[in-house]
Amino acid sequence: MAIVKRPGKFARAAGRCFAISLAINTENLSKIYSRDATGRPVGLIDLSLEVEEGQIFGLLGPNGSGKTTTLKLLLGLVFPTSGSGQIFGYPLGSNATKERIGFLPEGPYFYEHLNGIELLSFYGTLFGMGGSRLEARIEELLHLVGMWDRRFIRVRDYSRGMRQRIGAAQAMINDPDLLFLDELTSGLDPIGAMEMHELIMQLRDRGKTIFLCSHLLKDMEPLCDRVVILDRGEMCQSGAVEDLLRVENQCRLLLSNSSEELHQKLQASAQRTEVVGSHFEAYFTDQSAALAAAQEASAAGAVIEELGPHHRTLEEVFIEAVGGEK
Ligand SMILES: Nc1ncnc2c1ncn2[C@@H]1O[C@H](COP(=O)(O)OP(=O)(O)OP(=O)(O)O)[C@@H](O)[C@H]1O
Ligand SMILES: [Mg+2]
Repeated sequence: MAIVKRPGKFARAAGRCFAISLAINTENLSKIYSRDATGRPVGLIDLSLEVEEGQIFGLLGPNGSGKTTTLKLLLGLVFPTSGSGQIFGYPLGSNATKERIGFLPEGPYFYEHLNGIELLSFYGTLFGMGGSRLEARIEELLHLVGMWDRRFIRVRDYSRGMRQRIGAAQAMINDPDLLFLDELTSGLDPIGAMEMHELIMQLRDRGKTIFLCSHLLKDMEPLCDRVVILDRGEMCQSGAVEDLLRVENQCRLLLSNSSEELHQKLQASAQRTEVVGSHFEAYFTDQSAALAAAQEASAAGAVIEELGPHHRTLEEVFIEAVGGEK
């Protein structure tokens, strides 16, 4: 048996050194399908990333930015043009990792004549499962994805949301350590999307690693521990969500019912200001300046809607990274 050296790195916390295991790592991974009219490569370009075990990792970016291509490369479904990667220490596409992986593709296709139980039973047998163990797993998963009451409906009669739910159950049939989910909440109503997000957090709490692809930056923001944002095949931002959203020393004052005269006064003391609809926003680097501005606004009859530390959104992080090209 080949000896696999597990990829890992060390982190320091509270003066102690910890070993961190990596579920995924890639080095300059590229898949070039073609070139556009300007000669720019189309696909995925030089992606180097690390996904730690036990994290919810988001691969984000607009349509066509290379998310599904990355996923296909990681799963060994397409071959890289250049670069390399590993999953649990094995080269991409290695059979040794397949039992530990679950995958929900974008717009999954299932045999239309099967019902929920038959479909999960089919995928379970592909993993060598059977008997009462498989039956119990199917029942557990159907409850988990909210399909138990609809278990006898055939796939041909499913709504889009039902397909996503059964797809998520299919991806979990083998109780994988690493779950790849491409646009998980596509077709789900808001409650369904929230249920799926809760499920993902539960899986993380059980030590699973979740790799999500999505163009919905807003939805991914509260869910992901770390993200990589792609733009036209290239990484444009990466890091812990908490770090990306933090803006050092910024205080935001949001006002309504404020006069033009007050706006002019605040513009002098604020770092920047903005009129958003009927509201006026002012940002300060100094907390006491923000407080003084709030007092001045209140005395002038304006309504203080919000006053506190400013956090960016992932959408703002993305727009900043691409230099406002979007
Ligand atoms: N098989 C293929 N042959 C040629 N070009 C492809 C192929 N698959 C993807 N592409 C191109 O590669 C780029 C990245 O596509 P990809 O599907 O990875 O994007 P994505 O980020 O998943 O987009 P979406 O959010 O729409 O799912 C796009 O420009 C796409 O047209
Ligand atoms: Mg895609």
